[in-house]
Amino acid sequence: MDGVKAQAVVPNVAAGARGVADALSLHPNGRMFDRFLRACRGEPTDVTPVWFMRQAGRYMPEYRALRERYTLLEICKAPELALTVTLQPLRLGVDAAILFADILLPLEPMGAPFEFARGEGPVVHHPIRSAADVARLQVFEPEEGLGYVLEALRLIRRELDGKTPLIGFAGAPFTIASYLIEGGKSSQYQLTKQMMWSEPAVWHELMTKVSEVVRRYLRAQVTAGAQAVQLFDSWVGALSPADYRRHVLPHVRHILADLETTGVPVIHFGTNTATLLEAQREAGGTVLGVDWRIPLDEAWARIGYGTPIQGNMDPLLLLAPKEMAVARAREILAEAAGRPGHIFNLGHGIVPETPVETVQAVVAAVHGES
Ligand code: CP3
Repeated sequence: MDGVKAQAVVPNVAAGARGVADALSLHPNGRMFDRFLRACRGEPTDVTPVWFMRQAGRYMPEYRALRERYTLLEICKAPELALTVTLQPLRLGVDAAILFADILLPLEPMGAPFEFARGEGPVVHHPIRSAADVARLQVFEPEEGLGYVLEALRLIRRELDGKTPLIGFAGAPFTIASYLIEGGKSSQYQLTKQMMWSEPAVWHELMTKVSEVVRRYLRAQVTAGAQAVQLFDSWVGALSPADYRRHVLPHVRHILADLETTGVPVIHFGTNTATLLEAQREAGGTVLGVDWRIPLDEAWARIGYGTPIQGNMDPLLLLAPKEMAVARAREILAEAAGRPGHIFNLGHGIVPETPVETVQAVVAAVHGES
């Protein structure tokens, strides 16, 4: 039976109008507030839920205003500021809030401090290149090493008051390891692959440590109030399916098998992963995130319609004329064909030059409002 209708026949009549709305999981304005979580479970929803990676960020004037006074890391480390930024994009009408933080935050408590250098992106001061470097890395307790993130989650969850679901996140082991080894952004992942192939025992030890950090961190995020979590394997598409299976998949599975026991949905995301989808699905997760390099319908047929899917608009389409962005969003909805379990998102993060009005127009279009 249709999940929406199943809810509708059992309203809490005794509790008055607010209680009825809760039983229907509706806002007073008629919006279904848990459509994102329902879609993560593959359940039917009133309209397709939508949120965006990097939905809080430099394309928003209110974020830029705050960034004039604080650095990115200062915002991440002050729970009140992280709360403020997390809430900023909700005015766009998105169906979920994502914790404002960064996948690189665990590096510092692991013993590999970094900074965001102007124009260069992240820079790790002492990259991890040898067995001795790996041996020095700490597997820390999240409440000790990243207590400020968990505090931000508790604050945000209280503030959202159940009206908008809250997503936590972490980087996946390959993507985090690539920053640790390369010392920053990379185009070829040359040093990373070199360690993976030439020093497999060192690689395995590094991936084991990073995976255990990420497993504990995501579990702690769930305890602190995250209602879904996303694992960002942004750069894993650099690998062949065989290398992914041999050198990465067991570590991802270590994290995802444990998170499954929490009952909280996990979005397993990567880019450039058209050849890795089956292996990523095997590694685990509730929802698979895909980018625009593969048509959504093709990706979904391959992983099977029983696995919910998130994606997959090219973020640069938000720089195209607004009408084109909206038309492309509708094409993606047509590929999803109204099946339950589609969460609309981009295939990667929003870029700073994106006009807010285009983002708003896409949200409205996904919700069938224009
Ligand atoms: O999505 C969200 O709104 C939540 C916040 C979030 C940020 N980073 C804040 C941020 C999330 C989910 C991330 C994830 C992240 N961080 C990833 C995985 C996703 C992806 O984009 O692939 C990666 C690889 C990182 C590492 C990172 N952080 C890079 C490469 C950069 C760019 C550095 C630069 O100079 O632009 C960042 C910085 C960063 N993290 C910004 C934001 C909003 C840029 C804005 C700023 O500097 O204020």
